[in-house]
Amino acid sequence: MCGIVGYIGNENAKEMIITGLKSLEYRGYDSAGIVLNRGGKLLMRKESGVIANLEKRITKKDFDGNLGIGHTRWATHGAPVRENAHPHLSCDGRIAIVHNGIIENYMELKEWLIKKHGIAFKSDTDSEVIAQLICVYYKNDLVAAVRKAIAKMRGAYAVGVISSDDIDHIVAVRKDAPLIAGIGEGCNYLASDIPALLKYTRDIYLIENDEIVVISKEDIKIFDDDMTRVKREKMHVTWDAAAAEKGGYEHFMKKEIYEQPEAVNQTLEGRINAKNEVKLDGIKLTKKELDAIDRIYIIACGTAYHAGLQGKTLIENFARIPTEVDLASEFRYRAPIIDKNTLFICISQSGETSDTLEALREAKRKGARVLSVCNVMGSSVARESDDVLYTWAGPEIAVASTKAYTTQLVCLFLLSLYMGKTKGTLPAKEYGRIVGELKKLPAKMSEALGTEEHVAKLAKKFFVREQIFYIGRGSDVGTSYEASLKLKEISYINSFAIAAGELKHGPIALINRGTLFIVFATQDYLYEKMLSNIQEIKARHAYVVGIAKKGNKRVKKISDDVVMIPQCADEVASILAIVPMQLFAYHIAKLRKRDIDKPRNLAKSVTVE
Ligand code: M6R
Repeated sequence: MCGIVGYIGNENAKEMIITGLKSLEYRGYDSAGIVLNRGGKLLMRKESGVIANLEKRITKKDFDGNLGIGHTRWATHGAPVRENAHPHLSCDGRIAIVHNGIIENYMELKEWLIKKHGIAFKSDTDSEVIAQLICVYYKNDLVAAVRKAIAKMRGAYAVGVISSDDIDHIVAVRKDAPLIAGIGEGCNYLASDIPALLKYTRDIYLIENDEIVVISKEDIKIFDDDMTRVKREKMHVTWDAAAAEKGGYEHFMKKEIYEQPEAVNQTLEGRINAKNEVKLDGIKLTKKELDAIDRIYIIACGTAYHAGLQGKTLIENFARIPTEVDLASEFRYRAPIIDKNTLFICISQSGETSDTLEALREAKRKGARVLSVCNVMGSSVARESDDVLYTWAGPEIAVASTKAYTTQLVCLFLLSLYMGKTKGTLPAKEYGRIVGELKKLPAKMSEALGTEEHVAKLAKKFFVREQIFYIGRGSDVGTSYEASLKLKEISYINSFAIAAGELKHGPIALINRGTLFIVFATQDYLYEKMLSNIQEIKARHAYVVGIAKKGNKRVKKISDDVVMIPQCADEVASILAIVPMQLFAYHIAKLRKRDIDKPRNLAKSVTVE
């Protein structure tokens, strides 16, 4: 989720690029940098932290040029420090690049560049290989060198490139990461997102996958992967700046819900290889160490805790290690049994949640090994853990967590598969089946987003309610908790999540005529039991909305309404079933005119106890 800006025209390059980068702040960043071509010499500055840090370093009058590229980085590979900030220069200093995305095969490319070409790398990033690759292929033709480099790269990228030898062009390429070119007068622009250009132009070209764009002061030429010139209609942007930041969505929450197929894809990318082996960057646990672990604690808060509930089932099923899930705020104040054979798994989107961090420190003091699942590189949780598995969801801005949750679930799948395979507790056939299901997830998540119209109608029907119940069994219990939390925090409706089997032990007394129950019935092995629960509730005149897999006709028959999620294995249903419920909460909150992205009394990152 990094931001890219490029400019070619007059001596305004520095100003335009910095202004553009500031407009991309909402993408989240932890460092920024700029490189200008000044008469054939590349001038570069980069800094960690806020853009103001970078500005302070480029106040000098001689830091000027008429063409350049800039970048805001949100760390994925390598800590958020100056060395890892973009732009990256080739080792001979002639090529500069900025990159948004992940180069999946960067390790093998890096090894090849070191062994074959003796290149000394200066950063820990995957992106630096792009600069070095282009340099290796560069023979005074930047476009040809870029084409040769991308033929070697796997993964997702939007890349801007300049060379000290060419004072007239910026070259850019795109695959699965956003990129646009802006049309100016006597100047032209490059950016990852519309807000970066709105101050300067509203006429843009959307660059498509596998296209190369060559930008000069006078024109913008777009080519397909065979170098055939592409004729592209120009788009005139009418959005205001705020709408543009949200990519045209009304709220960040909605944008983030819709980013889930891509976020899940990114989180899986590079972690399941061609032989279906799970390779976890950042996890150093060996078979011997895994065999020695006799107890696991999963600790988290809020939504991350709900992901932990699913993680327990996965680890116990696949790796057969007894696992406890606890709220970080509770764990801190009891006397958990921890020793060197305990693995402590911490889940946190922000990596700064005070309760989680203190629980982590307590576990470390007692000798546990700490592994974290985290979305923010370089955060306190990540830095203080022995092993880190990153959710590559990109920055999450809305207070209500959505894409961080589904990518946490994906990480817990990867981790438990890795543990099960390494320990030999998961039969090969089962392992293959689950890996197959994970690979299908991005497409199925897109399909699950297709429920929005139906769910919006339900929201219209129920937004005036003051009480809603969510029930389920098995992994649907965790999904019920998460669906209920989403609704509570953004709509302020009093909602309850209950394990369906517990209903008759008390909560059933709350049912009145018309009480709304959202009933998850996504687990085939518990299907009959859920049908009985629905009958029980219906007999007391409640209104039932079932959540079931496509084709589950009996739920449909006995419920008042049903939302169908895609067909899938029971194990992954939790990742799909939450999607319509995020949308349900969103639409209810919108109808109740709530401040969806910043609900009252809540903060994105809870750094106090
Ligand atoms: O950053 P963390 O994942 O550690 O945050 C934990 C909770 O504060 C967070 O999930 C919270 O419950 C969200 N607002 C839920 O949408």
